[in-house]
Amino acid sequence: MEVIILADAGEIAGIAADAIGALLGRNPTAVLGLATGSSPLAIYDELALRCEAGTISFRQARGFTLDEYVGLPADHPQRYRTVIDEVFVSRVDFVPGAVEGPDGLAADIPAACAAYESAIQAAGGVDLQILGIGTDGHIGFNEPGSSLASRTRIKTLTRQTRVDNARFFDGDLDAVPTHCLTQGLGTIMAARHIILVATGRSKAEAVHQLVEGPVSALWPATVLQHHPHVTVLLDDAAARRLQLVDYYRETYRSKPKWQGI
Ligand code: F6R
Repeated sequence: MEVIILADAGEIAGIAADAIGALLGRNPTAVLGLATGSSPLAIYDELALRCEAGTISFRQARGFTLDEYVGLPADHPQRYRTVIDEVFVSRVDFVPGAVEGPDGLAADIPAACAAYESAIQAAGGVDLQILGIGTDGHIGFNEPGSSLASRTRIKTLTRQTRVDNARFFDGDLDAVPTHCLTQGLGTIMAARHIILVATGRSKAEAVHQLVEGPVSALWPATVLQHHPHVTVLLDDAAARRLQLVDYYRETYRSKPKWQGI
């Protein structure tokens, strides 16, 4: 696991966008895994700028989102399909239908989850997955207690996650759905490269557990310690509880400049 501590979200976005640009340069048909929430927004802004400038193209690429609330009406502004379209997909040159997400309105939820797993596999799997992390250590919406081998399924959101996300629902906790469909930890682990982004003090404990804690379903993100290619991009505030912070800084400082993440 490579831990990189940067000045701010802008610097994080530049490094993540460089990695995505390099991937699409090598493989224009690459499959991207897309997170919603606030953490990746600066990355999406940077990618939109680069696409507008003609230095990156998603024309042949595909994407799969991580998760979706269950039961939000199709026209609800916080439905993740709507959100990802607004913050990223509609701002770059994906062809229509190239980005898919789990169907939170499906009548048959288990069938919809199985179909989503099949769609990811049929696309050849995810080449690069962008992740945020919850204050309770979730990735996707794999809440504490999730099976480390789980696949796409329905999950109950913790009260903590609903409180954290109430800011997207005008602060109204009751308006935050109680359930979601999420790629499982096993699904996420199948991605070939994972970039996890965390900023701000509220993420510091989850980041400490992710990088330095024991692997445990109590902090689901710790499963990433078993992945061969994870890059963790942090600002100072999110890195403040890391025990080996000086070592991570030194490692990145002395990394050969030609080497990407
Ligand atoms: C969103 C997702 C979640 C978020 C996490 C952090 O698709 O899967 O795991 O990444 O809840 O959310 P933010 O970035 O809003 O702090």
